[in-house]
Amino acid sequence: MTAFKPLVFSGVQPTGNLHLGNYLGAIKKFVALQDTSDCIYCVVDLHSLTAQLVHEDLKDQTRAITAAFLASGIDPKKHIVFNQSRVMQHAELAWIFNCVARIGWMNRMTQFKDKAGKDRENASLGLLAYPSLMAADILVYRATHVPVGDDQKQHLELTRDIAQKFNNDFSDRIAGLGVGVEMNVGEETVNGFFPLTEPIIGGPAARIMSLRDGSKKMSKSDPSDLSRINLTDDADSISKKIRKAKTDPEALPGELDGLAGRPEAENLVGIYAGLAEISKEAVLKEFGGQQFSVFKPALADLAVEKLAPVAGEMRRISGDRAYVDAVLSDGGERAGLLAEATMKTVRDIIGLLQG
Ligand code: AMP
Ligand code: TRP
Repeated sequence: MTAFKPLVFSGVQPTGNLHLGNYLGAIKKFVALQDTSDCIYCVVDLHSLTAQLVHEDLKDQTRAITAAFLASGIDPKKHIVFNQSRVMQHAELAWIFNCVARIGWMNRMTQFKDKAGKDRENASLGLLAYPSLMAADILVYRATHVPVGDDQKQHLELTRDIAQKFNNDFSDRIAGLGVGVEMNVGEETVNGFFPLTEPIIGGPAARIMSLRDGSKKMSKSDPSDLSRINLTDDADSISKKIRKAKTDPEALPGELDGLAGRPEAENLVGIYAGLAEISKEAVLKEFGGQQFSVFKPALADLAVEKLAPVAGEMRRISGDRAYVDAVLSDGGERAGLLAEATMKTVRDIIGLLQG
């Protein structure tokens, strides 16, 4: 049985500062996956237009995310790093997927509902179609694995639905052209052109919460800077934000069960575990019975130790704009060749006249 070649793809939007949630939930996983798979990491600048069309500094934001990728240890020679808008095939495939996906699927997306708010009629059409572009990002490379934070789970389920509908709707043509690949879906073996991509979500840091409110996700858009640790924060701000993080008056429990109903405590334990690359259980083994007056300084020291070098490296790399631009241009060329190879076949499958 032929199978899809394992390939990792993920994307980060160039809007606002990267924070600890992005780092632990996504970028650290990107770095780790490089040892075992071919990887493509993309700064998704077209996605950032969906919420806000005019950005004063989109180019610099794109470079800043790229610098964060490189500073964290992503190797742009062994793998591919580029910005989405350089490879127009993403937009082309997204259009085709707009015609595969159903409006009802898009209307059910919780991120759309959150971002559109009450005035849904006035949200951009792009915001509604956002998951279709995300599916295109992944499937234009026929990527098999996508590391992301927990908040992207629903979008990845939709990506599988789009792949499956495309494979079904065009099954005869895919078979006729001999471009299908066999894959296992549950008990069945099916043949399709697009893989059913697997999310890589999980670990103690898949969902990092705000430092001010354990029920809200740590986010670029939170008005309070105290709610998040930015990747660019210096040692003093990191320590201050952890010192001021909301907690409860109890000591830390010795077991995981003891964190139930204590979202702020659970979040800080998750952050420690993510940074130290150990489980939450192991953190509680070490700190169970201790007060936050002991745990917070230990967490602050660990966060500074792990994040300060990344921030320093980001500053250094950001200073060399020519290098960052060269990485994106080289990555864009390599990604473009792969994407065009997929699109040639997709156009054939659909029956578009080309060549
Ligand atoms: P974004 O900045 O929304 O483009 O997100 C980039 C990546 O970071 C995605 O994989 C998100 O799922 C992940 N991410 C964003 N916020 C968090 C968070 N608070 N906790 C864990 N992962 C997150
Ligand atoms: N939607 C993702 C986010 O907001 C960003 C993204 C766009 C992405 N395209 C992607 C993530 C493809 C993974 C794969 O975080």
